[in-house]
Amino acid sequence: MRIDVLTLFPGMFGDPLSHSILARARESGLLAVEVHDLRDFAEGKHRVTDEPPFGGGGGMVMKPGPIFAGVEALSASRGPGRVILLSPAGSLLSPESAERLSKEEHLLLICGRYEGVDQRVADHLADEEISIGDYVLSGGELPALVLIDAVARFLPGVLGDPDAPRNDSFAEGLLEAPHYTRPRDFRGWAVPEVLLSGDHAAVAAWRKEEGVRRTAARRPDLLKKKLTGRPGME
Ligand SMILES: C[S@@+](CC[C@H](N)C(=O)[O-])C[C@H]1O[C@@H](n2cnc3c(N)ncnc32)[C@H](O)[C@@H]1O
Repeated sequence: MRIDVLTLFPGMFGDPLSHSILARARESGLLAVEVHDLRDFAEGKHRVTDEPPFGGGGGMVMKPGPIFAGVEALSASRGPGRVILLSPAGSLLSPESAERLSKEEHLLLICGRYEGVDQRVADHLADEEISIGDYVLSGGELPALVLIDAVARFLPGVLGDPDAPRNDSFAEGLLEAPHYTRPRDFRGWAVPEVLLSGDHAAVAAWRKEEGVRRTAARRPDLLKKKLTGRPGME
């Protein structure tokens, strides 16, 4: 999979992409990420990428021109891809959307800044808008990194255990059971006996039960949705 990112702050991407799973995915050729400075697609001596909003109000809005130019140039040189605008107004990133996007050959991610992005980008350029949660961050760079990580986990070969993302929290609409490792007893807090039993069926049953119990205690909205198919209230 290839991912091109358009941002005013390319320097924010180097380090997070250079460690652990994302670094290995890139080294093994399963994932190629290229980060592009939006200013390179802006016109004029000053390469302006933002202007005050029409209608007044504070802050600046990112101009459509450099974003359209960037996406069009990258689509021409790297081939067409699915264009995603990171936005608090987008649909929430989920295991389903991450898995769906992992099946695309090419993603183009647009990172907003300031008050946001001229609406014509969402209306006439982006294929979809994605939010990473109901809170506002200063820019789309961290959301883009979150999306890249979530999507990469679904690329075949990226994780040692290919079923891992399908067993993680949320995949089945539930939270995962807790994990324990050595020592068996840490400061008097013992590991649940069943995990030491060697009885795989009993361990699987315990994990399932714990997943349901934790979800009921911490995220009853998820459990309600799983049981009824309808969204629950938090
Ligand atoms: C400060 S935010 C703009 C917020 C906007 N004024 C609003 O209230 O919806 C600047 C940029 O950060 C990104 N961003 C902020 N929060 C986000 C979120 N929860 N999910 C995805 N992108 C987000 C978007 O690209 C957005 O254009």
